[in-house]
Amino acid sequence: MWRLNNKKALVTGGTKGIGRATVMEFLELESEVLFTSRSESDISAFETELKDKGYSAHGIVANSAKKDDRIKIKKWVEEKWGKLDIVVHNAGINIRKKAIDYSEEEFRKILEINLTAPFELSRLLYSNLKESGNASIINVASSAAMQDVGTGTPYAMSKSGLLQLSRSLAVEWASDNIRVNSVSPWFTKTPLTESYLNIAEKMKSILNKTPLNRVAEPEEISAIISFLAMDKSSFITGQNIIADGGMSVNAT
Ligand SMILES: NC(=O)c1ccc[n+]([C@@H]2O[C@H](COP(=O)([O-])OP(=O)(O)OC[C@H]3O[C@@H](n4cnc5c(N)ncnc54)[C@H](OP(=O)(O)O)[C@@H]3O)[C@@H](O)[C@H]2O)c1
Repeated sequence: MWRLNNKKALVTGGTKGIGRATVMEFLELESEVLFTSRSESDISAFETELKDKGYSAHGIVANSAKKDDRIKIKKWVEEKWGKLDIVVHNAGINIRKKAIDYSEEEFRKILEINLTAPFELSRLLYSNLKESGNASIINVASSAAMQDVGTGTPYAMSKSGLLQLSRSLAVEWASDNIRVNSVSPWFTKTPLTESYLNIAEKMKSILNKTPLNRVAEPEEISAIISFLAMDKSSFITGQNIIADGGMSVNAT
């Protein structure tokens, strides 16, 4: 049961960072994987890299915030797999600003990618998840969902909404044996955070707040996603697993 045994998995935002580590780990655990990204060249480069390592996964150019692109994902799943066992809503963006400085367009963009897309894509794929008879949705939230960590208000709002999306769908879809959980990472070394973590004073401030005195590797987050995807976690639904090196329990 510590495997994914040919389960069919979709990972949004699968070419970089946490999504990429998740695709790799799912393949190592013997899952079949479909991943998305907005960049055709990133997808073909990752597909080639995987082939060289002896794995086969399919990538689709799709912006999960766009309805037509979500329909494209649905069509692929319908045609190739029919059922779907795992969905990881990982694609996410941030724009860091003071609340007063966001344009309406920036605010909407963050909410559309981080929150609306997981809701709409989950609904679109509901029949395929139901057909699985044993499905798991994992939403990648953030420490920012639970407290202000200086990421900017729209990002925090979107991730907080994602936690409640997980709880509500977990209850509504439990009778279809679809589990829905969240993972909330604190700072993790990925392209999204690279430039921020390269600022020495920012890194120092993060480490001061983090008892384990380091940031996470993407593989430390994909390990939790994999656990929630597999049958070993079969009685866990509606929960949020926090991976923050002790940051949230530190008041020293
Ligand atoms: N890194 C952290 O410290 C951290 C902490 C807490 C939570 N998180 C969350 O973890 C998730 C992954 O973050 P990350 O740090 O791994 O980010 P990343 O390094 O920027 O990677 C994000 C991936 O998602 C894709 N993507 C972004 N927007 C997309 C969209 N609209 N449709 C499809 N694909 C899209 C990107 O590819 P393209 O750009 O090619 O589309 C890329 O493959 C995000 O939800 C983020 O909010 C990260």
